[in-house]
Amino acid sequence: MATISGVGLSWRSNLSQIPSSNPSPSPSPSSRRRVFSPIKMAVSVDKKNFTLQKSEEIFNAAKFVLLSSPPSPKALSRPSRRCSGSIRLFWSSSSRHSWPQLFLDHALSGYCKSSSSQQKDLHSPLVADSSCFVEELMPGGVNSPVRAFKSVGGQPIVIDSVKGSHMRDVDGNEYIDYVGSWGPAIIGHADDEVLASLAETMKKGTSFGAPCVLENVLAEMVISAVPSIEMVRFVNSGTEACMGVLRLARAFTSRPKIIKFEGCYHGHADPFLVKAGSGVATLGLPDSPGVPRAATIDTLTSPFNCLSTVENLFETHKGEIAGVILEPVVGNSGFIAPKPDFLNALRQITKENDALLIFDEVMTGFRLAYGGAQEYFGITPDLTTLGKIIGGGLPVGAYGGRREIMEMVAPAGPMYQAGTLSGNPLAMTAGIQTLKRLKELGSYEYLDKITGELIQGIVDAGKRAGHKFCGMYISGMFGFFFTEGPVYNFEDAKKSDTAKFARFHRGMLEEGVYFAPSQFEAGFTSLAHTSEDIQQTIAAAEKVFRQI
Ligand SMILES: Cc1ncc(COP(=O)(O)O)c(C=O)c1O
Repeated sequence: MATISGVGLSWRSNLSQIPSSNPSPSPSPSSRRRVFSPIKMAVSVDKKNFTLQKSEEIFNAAKFVLLSSPPSPKALSRPSRRCSGSIRLFWSSSSRHSWPQLFLDHALSGYCKSSSSQQKDLHSPLVADSSCFVEELMPGGVNSPVRAFKSVGGQPIVIDSVKGSHMRDVDGNEYIDYVGSWGPAIIGHADDEVLASLAETMKKGTSFGAPCVLENVLAEMVISAVPSIEMVRFVNSGTEACMGVLRLARAFTSRPKIIKFEGCYHGHADPFLVKAGSGVATLGLPDSPGVPRAATIDTLTSPFNCLSTVENLFETHKGEIAGVILEPVVGNSGFIAPKPDFLNALRQITKENDALLIFDEVMTGFRLAYGGAQEYFGITPDLTTLGKIIGGGLPVGAYGGRREIMEMVAPAGPMYQAGTLSGNPLAMTAGIQTLKRLKELGSYEYLDKITGELIQGIVDAGKRAGHKFCGMYISGMFGFFFTEGPVYNFEDAKKSDTAKFARFHRGMLEEGVYFAPSQFEAGFTSLAHTSEDIQQTIAAAEKVFRQI
């Protein structure tokens, strides 16, 4: 049975995920830390080729011009312009060494001293504008809602490059990153071996639209790692994986209804946008407009960790429930662990009712343990969804499970599901390299150690400063709330002082630490995070807790 220890509430099941005969950690990640090097990647803008390296040269030159030729008071008193095709650099008010918009405009016009067409050519990838430009291009200025900093206020950081445990923004500020691209970066960002393998694969092409060896290699690795998976289907995102698994559960059981938990997020497909977590929770959105009633009528919900509600639902809808889907450890309402017997009880009740138990391990897969939450807790579901880590930072998702169920999937069976880029060689390559690294002995022990130190340090600092505060972690996944806790479900999570969290988030950003810009998201560490990163983060938290 699992036990809880310390402030970190580190759940340890009796099933050790790493043979205890080798307690030594993997080679120190500090040896893997590298100085940032510019990403040399061709980018096409207005049919002209640019490189990110070029952008960086321009940016640095702009700073130089600014220093040698400061803007006139008149220039500084100019009212902010709408974007006009000249270069607009993003100015983040949160950046520690950022440059006000007008300074940069001035600096760049000095640097460019060129025709307007040349200036347009220089409309390079680091162009962004906090006040008007970005939001005019994309809804909210982003391609996924939580990135927009809506719940913590201020402007989002525009990232230029990532390496190891660090991110660097377009202003040149560095941050210790605890978002990890929302989970995939578990061995650290832009790992050299992953990049080298991708370069090799790329020589052979980027997409075949036909079977390839690499997808078989990754399938083999996933099947041998994840206890419930006997067959797997790769898709391109976690959302797709959850859509596929829902159709499969309904097809296999010939039943329409599904139970999901409040605050759990299973991607943005219609049937799951009911009391969902992640961006839906962060933005406080009700069920999204555009989702027809018919799409959600068969979605039943229960508070997480509340077995009696699940029992009642099975009683009320006898013979109609295809399955129960959940994040075995919730990461989309903040971090919420299951009560000791909860997963086991769900396994029992689904079996008794001939329904399927589905673990959405898009976040927890290969993160809590090599075999995911199901290995960590010793509970085997019927079906599992994966994403994030198995793509090593490239777009991927997967669903898998018992052979007799998976054989329902087309073309082996009648349940249709397909994907143009599914199993594409690049995502497979990055996934294979990432899993190889994770499989090295000591990986999860290292994650557990540094994450434990991090959460213990932050919780202690928060309490010392007099805040109502609690934090939890398992392996490389963690969360904290501005409430005394305990936090067992989304209702408990909502008791957190989110205004205080916003101030904390902003303060930490100023100190060079990047946490998820939402109270309702989990945090992630990686093998590239060093003790130095952790200590620096705790010291920053200590300072920020006293200010908020
Ligand atoms: C548990 C879980 N399921 C599904 C998804 C959706 O995955 P994606 O964003 O790749 O569509 C997420 C995304 O964060 C997730 O955390």
